[in-house]
Amino acid sequence: MASILFVLLSFQVHAWEGPTYQAKKAQIGKRNLTHKAYSVSPGFYTLTEKTFNRLSKVWPRELRKRLKRDPSKFRELAYQRYGFLKAPYDNKGAPLGFVVKPDGRWEGSCFMCHAGSVGGKVILGLGNNQIDIGTFTEDRIKQIKRYPISSNAYPINFPKALSESLMVRLYERSYFSKYRHQLSKGTPNVVSGWSAILGGRNIDMDPFGFPRSLKINVFGSIPVDSDMPAWFTTSVKSRIWVDGFSPLTRRTIMSPAAAPLNPEFKKWESEFDDVLHYIKSLKAPSYENSFPGRIDWKMAKKGEDHFYQSCSNCHGDYERVAGVMTLLFPEERIPLSKLKTDPARVRKGLTVSWRQFYQNSWLGNYGKDKFVVDPKGYMAPPLLGVWATAPYLHNGSVPTLYHLLFESERPKIWKVTDYKKYDHKNMGLSFNKFLSVPIVYDNEMKRRFFDTTGHSKSNKGHSFGSELSEQQKWELLEYLKTL
Ligand code: HEC
Ligand code: HEC
Repeated sequence: MASILFVLLSFQVHAWEGPTYQAKKAQIGKRNLTHKAYSVSPGFYTLTEKTFNRLSKVWPRELRKRLKRDPSKFRELAYQRYGFLKAPYDNKGAPLGFVVKPDGRWEGSCFMCHAGSVGGKVILGLGNNQIDIGTFTEDRIKQIKRYPISSNAYPINFPKALSESLMVRLYERSYFSKYRHQLSKGTPNVVSGWSAILGGRNIDMDPFGFPRSLKINVFGSIPVDSDMPAWFTTSVKSRIWVDGFSPLTRRTIMSPAAAPLNPEFKKWESEFDDVLHYIKSLKAPSYENSFPGRIDWKMAKKGEDHFYQSCSNCHGDYERVAGVMTLLFPEERIPLSKLKTDPARVRKGLTVSWRQFYQNSWLGNYGKDKFVVDPKGYMAPPLLGVWATAPYLHNGSVPTLYHLLFESERPKIWKVTDYKKYDHKNMGLSFNKFLSVPIVYDNEMKRRFFDTTGHSKSNKGHSFGSELSEQQKWELLEYLKTL
């Protein structure tokens, strides 16, 4: 009997271990994402290399002084300021996260947020924990307002340049502008932006069609900051977004591309089918292979026991057989009453009426796909490659795995010291603690501080494992390196 059970179990395990994807399609999907922006960010996120190089004109004085001393530092300073990374492939001179169009213009893409780095190493599909879209947007708006022609993506096309700068002004007055803000680096305010974006379309996803909601903010969603789930964990799930309200389909992963000025949106469905195969093909990076990282396997083995005792009910069973990871993953949503992490994202970031709209629209296959319109909690994510995905929790409020397990030590206000430096002991970001956010005059400086007292930023909750001793928690941490 035991052996029959094992076979059945391993059959099921394999169903999870190998998310079904076709290598060929995955390859095309990757190419789509590196060569096409899907206009995540039309308008002022479109620029040329020249306009990018001129951004320093709107930087704060201190930074301009530093640049003056050594102009060759422009790229380095700009990448630091906006959280951009160097592309690990030939990206025609643009940072990762932009696609260079045939006419030379740069356009923001999915990789702006969905390609990140750990210990200085770039990994496609990892969340970009440095991204600062807030500062980039503010600088671009300043730039276009101050230099409407020369800083435009269409400098030689006057009517277009003027219409773009007009668009920036309109945007600033519009409902959408409320949504550009993000309070700290690495946690863009995205979901409420999508909520607003979809509010600009009718259920057929037609931006000009009827019937439509007359008020864009009919869905009542409130801005919240979010951390990006790593796509190599998305690959083993059947439900997505941190509240798991939606099934993983080629249509639901398109919603970030639904900006109102994308009339071609629905035509991209087959291209997104390939993107879906690409996401499903992604594998978590290994701790040992990514660094000269060392795992104390004896200690990790003890940690595994604690994991099965305190964590695997929600996070799944991980088994490495002949170097291949197999996973039995329960995909559980845990109610806020038990979880007690920040409620803003699930309650206010997306609202029940918005999720209903989504479900009944083209994105949800007109109600045929299975949605959960009132999730009341967050999904327990798969912990594959969890060592690499700092900061932790859906809002990125906890900088290391140590601080997740040692709840009373979680820093109230923290600031990353160096994104290239991985903290091997605590497993996560190297940071300093602060008692309060110092007064700074540049929003970019402000965004370097993660202030857990702010709206949507709480680091409370997820107190699981509190029954473990200090030594047992260290063993558990060692085990987490192996996933
Ligand atoms: C400005 C940053 C940003 C950009 C650009 C962006 N995303 Fe995301 N993405 C996020 C955030 C934040 C989340 C988590 C949302 C939440 O709270 O559920 C997310 C979640 C996702 C998820 C769900 C992952 C999971 O496991 O639940 C998918 C799939 C996804 N994005 C695809 C895309 C695609 C495709 C594009 C480009 C068309 C894109 N995103 C562009 C920030 C971004
Ligand atoms: C009752 C279910 C449950 C138990 C038990 C549980 N977790 Fe979680 N875990 C969750 C949920 C739900 C989340 C998402 C919470 C959020 O983001 O607000 C989560 C998030 C996490 C994260 C953050 C992942 C990320 O990418 O941000 C880690 C790491 C984690 N858990 C580790 C553990 C460990 C280690 C244990 C055992 C000591 C454990 N969990 C026990 C439900 C659980």
